[in-house]
Amino acid sequence: MSAPTSTAVRPLRIGSLVSATPVVLAPMAGITNTAYRQLCREQGEGFYVSEMITSRALVERTPETMRLISFTPAERPRSLQLYGVDPLTVSKAVEMIVAEDLADHVDLNFGCPVPKVTRKGGGSALPWKADLFRDIVRGAVTTASRGGIPVTVKMRKGIDDDHLTYLQAGRTAEQEGVAAVALHGRTASQHYSGHADWEAIARLRDTVTSIPVLGNGDIWSAEDALDMVQRTGVDGVVVGRGCLGRPWLFADLEAGFAGRPERVRPGLRQVTQVLRRHAELLCEFYEDELRGCRDIRKHISWYFKGYAVGGDMRARLGLVDTLEALDELIADLDLDQPYPGAAAEGSRGRAGSPQARVALPEGWLDSQELTGAAAEMIRQAELSVSGG
Ligand SMILES: Cc1cc2nc3c(=O)[nH]c(=O)nc-3n(C[C@H](O)[C@H](O)[C@H](O)COP(=O)(O)O)c2cc1C
Repeated sequence: MSAPTSTAVRPLRIGSLVSATPVVLAPMAGITNTAYRQLCREQGEGFYVSEMITSRALVERTPETMRLISFTPAERPRSLQLYGVDPLTVSKAVEMIVAEDLADHVDLNFGCPVPKVTRKGGGSALPWKADLFRDIVRGAVTTASRGGIPVTVKMRKGIDDDHLTYLQAGRTAEQEGVAAVALHGRTASQHYSGHADWEAIARLRDTVTSIPVLGNGDIWSAEDALDMVQRTGVDGVVVGRGCLGRPWLFADLEAGFAGRPERVRPGLRQVTQVLRRHAELLCEFYEDELRGCRDIRKHISWYFKGYAVGGDMRARLGLVDTLEALDELIADLDLDQPYPGAAAEGSRGRAGSPQARVALPEGWLDSQELTGAAAEMIRQAELSVSGG
């Protein structure tokens, strides 16, 4: 993508919360926990969103969910993403957040394409039921307003190209008092394949005019972020996979949006220092060294993308079970390797192929209204597990 010539950057306002750098760390299940958010936030200003928290699991206070909603005292503002399909349950979850002062900002997930979610009418399947979408958003905004907490909506373009929902959902969200809407420029059926449609993001920006619109999808560098703002007119960007194994991307984004040219280009020694710290923070987060070490394993290939770290070494790192073992393996690397350039950049994380058919409740596409049987199904469809 070509580098933009100039971009007028304004602070991003979400309700009364302001970030001079208009950047949001995308919620990512299994990734954006307290440990990772802390690592990213140290790099630059922005909104750093938790992984998705299931409304029902929050209301039921499952131990894993209570861990997932933890924020360190330094983490401000606290952005928590909620997932839910039943307006009453989502409202109850927001009520708990307000009453117990659990977050400063609530983001609603209408973008998840995972079959276990869409099969129940949730995530990216939900905005198709226009009245259900409105009820959930209305309930969340009304309840959150009692605590002065802004609510944002994160969504995809729709279920597939024949069932697009984003413009209608964007207008509804705006009418119902949402503080900002974010669009991932893919349909559920695309999953993570192909390219994000930035033209759709521009169309949403033209449609929703009174609140910030955030663009999401395929931002791999500060240059991509500036390019998206310039091409689409969005008020901010949401960055997911681009920062995997690269929390310093947030320093690049801050510099880029401030018009500064410097970018973080770490040699392998610096990369391993961040990786080591990430592992340590995960061990603290889980209060369990083995669990923290198991969790860091999935980040290893992202951290080492483009660096000369052999397959055997990567395999051994992929089995690491103590911080001491991690240190020993790191000590065996050629730590003087410089930044490898393009090989460390570009796409990373999930890609995959499109889904031939999005898993949906029976008859879901027949009507945009929630009819009797589907309404009953929805009441029983709340998942009880957060994340993943
Ligand atoms: C591992 C992974 C987990 C994700 N989990 C969530 C989630 O919990 N909630 C959500 O709204 N989106 C989730 N997403 C989607 C991202 O927030 C984002 O919309 C998507 O990755 C596109 O942005 P990107 O191209 O910058 O990665 C997830 C994506 C990935 C790769």
